[in-house]
Amino acid sequence: MRDPRLYDSISSTYTDTRHADGRVAARIHEAIRSGERVINIGAGTGNYEPHDRLVVAVEPSSEMISKRPPGTGPAVQAVAEALPFRTNFFDVAMATLTLHHWQDRRQGLIEMRRVAPRQVIFLFDPAETYRFWAIDYWPAALSLPSEQALPTPNDLAEVLNLIDVQAVAIPIDCSDGFGTAYWGRPEAYLDRDVQQGMSWLAQLPRSVLAEGSARLDADLRSGVWDRRHGHLRDLPELDVGYRLVTAQE
Ligand SMILES: C[S@@+](CC[C@H](N)C(=O)[O-])C[C@H]1O[C@@H](n2cnc3c(N)ncnc32)[C@H](O)[C@@H]1O
Repeated sequence: MRDPRLYDSISSTYTDTRHADGRVAARIHEAIRSGERVINIGAGTGNYEPHDRLVVAVEPSSEMISKRPPGTGPAVQAVAEALPFRTNFFDVAMATLTLHHWQDRRQGLIEMRRVAPRQVIFLFDPAETYRFWAIDYWPAALSLPSEQALPTPNDLAEVLNLIDVQAVAIPIDCSDGFGTAYWGRPEAYLDRDVQQGMSWLAQLPRSVLAEGSARLDADLRSGVWDRRHGHLRDLPELDVGYRLVTAQE
């Protein structure tokens, strides 16, 4: 069962490793376009919120709300599945890197569509990200509640009127340490703060995390990782399955 208060317990290092990447943010802001009133659902600490218009954040975790920097818009403690706003109160509803945590994703999408005529969602496509090399070190992550029955971007069309689905290649020096962000910097996956900042690793039992870390460490020391994946270190960016979905009435 997915827990909407999960981030009360796993967010201690979030602001150390999770900073909006400017290049990814530019793509998201382009999709938001001129919408003046924006609701950011599963807003966390406010990453990717535009700063030049009214933004209201919705976030269930009080710990995440407390980490929102000064100057960010007001935050309401609530869940995507029951947004406490009237129909079409906003121009745009945005949701970044949060959909996999929602208890009832379909209901959350219905609510997004109700409160704004345009929806912008940044998410990962499980069909792509589950091929990521780091899964080999922590395969137990695929059994976590947050990884179950994930929609592909095109599945969102069951609820939303999709007008665009774009691949967002992730730069090798991405400043936001989300799940696959360190695709070409494998040593980062041994860093405890980096692990804590990614829900797919932070939710694993310590012993499971330690076992995968030991195997990755050994493969890095022996050169096994570089023989398999070393070419990644030289790429400027890579499509690791992140998608930007825009829907409109
Ligand atoms: C990985 S963080 C992403 C935060 C932010 N959007 C970002 O891009 O940095 C996922 C967020 O989704 C929130 N969340 C979990 N369940 C939720 C739900 N049912 N409705 C809305 N947000 C939820 C978590 O509390 C957490 O802050």
